[in-house]
Amino acid sequence: MTTLSFPFLRAMEKPKRSINRMETPPPLAQLPENLSAERVLEVQHYTNRLFGFTITRPASFRFRAGEFVMIGLRTAERPLMRAYSIASAPSAEALEFYSIIVPDGPLTSRLCQIKPGDEVLMARKATGTLVLDALTPATRLFLVSTGTGFAPFASILREPETYAKFKQVIVTHTCRDAAELRYSADVVNALPDDPLVGEAAAFHVMRYATCTRGSCQRRGRITDLMQSGKAFADMGIAPLSPAHDRVMICGSLGFNHNMQALLMRAGFTEGSNAAPGEFLVEKAFVG
Ligand code: A2P
Repeated sequence: MTTLSFPFLRAMEKPKRSINRMETPPPLAQLPENLSAERVLEVQHYTNRLFGFTITRPASFRFRAGEFVMIGLRTAERPLMRAYSIASAPSAEALEFYSIIVPDGPLTSRLCQIKPGDEVLMARKATGTLVLDALTPATRLFLVSTGTGFAPFASILREPETYAKFKQVIVTHTCRDAAELRYSADVVNALPDDPLVGEAAAFHVMRYATCTRGSCQRRGRITDLMQSGKAFADMGIAPLSPAHDRVMICGSLGFNHNMQALLMRAGFTEGSNAAPGEFLVEKAFVG
């Protein structure tokens, strides 16, 4: 995933107190208190620019489905951290992430080389806007993603509360080609066997996958397919309406912007943790 560094990252990485000139800087092995050192458990490469990995979970680490956390590696100077959406269920023992490899990207070009047993750094706190609590009640939940923007939706699809709150969950994933759609297919196909959500997910989840450059079953940008009504006709469902739908958006900046505009034209209002609403956009992430 292409990720943004945050203003708070700089603050986070500052030493707790200013270092007096006479003091020796902390040794490299010493991590800032807000980071923990975790171990890589599994790595799976999907294409030459997409991979997933799981790491150990600290016992004290809590998160809500859809949130992200800073993930990174040590460097000679300081930890190099980027925001990653957590793909696992909040109850999972290990933490799963899905990443793009940015050529010459300082973190992902190194992170893509990790192997089981290697160290990965993780912030102790998760945060984010794509949470169920930030949506008002409705019947259907649309999770609309491009690229690695599907990752937070893997977590939401694996969370039992999703099915307690919504009767139907429609997850869309748009990528450049069919190979890039595999991760979302694997996640959704595994849901019926999930002991926590299997029964609900088997009947209530619909996946709509499209690609825009290679050959695949369905072609087109999801924004165009929703605008024309083709996506809803293909799925045999009613078009989007704030009367019965809630939407989460996660993908590239351009996609997030276009999808947000489409929803606002349809009369949806944006929600937040402080004021729940009818749609949410992941602001911390460019996928
Ligand atoms: P396209 O191939 O037409 O650019 P990327 O891998 O570059 O992040 O793109 C992932 C998917 O998101 C691609 O299928 C891409 O389509 C699509 N996409 C990119 N920008 C937008 C946008 N502004 N609106 C809708 N879809 C977009």
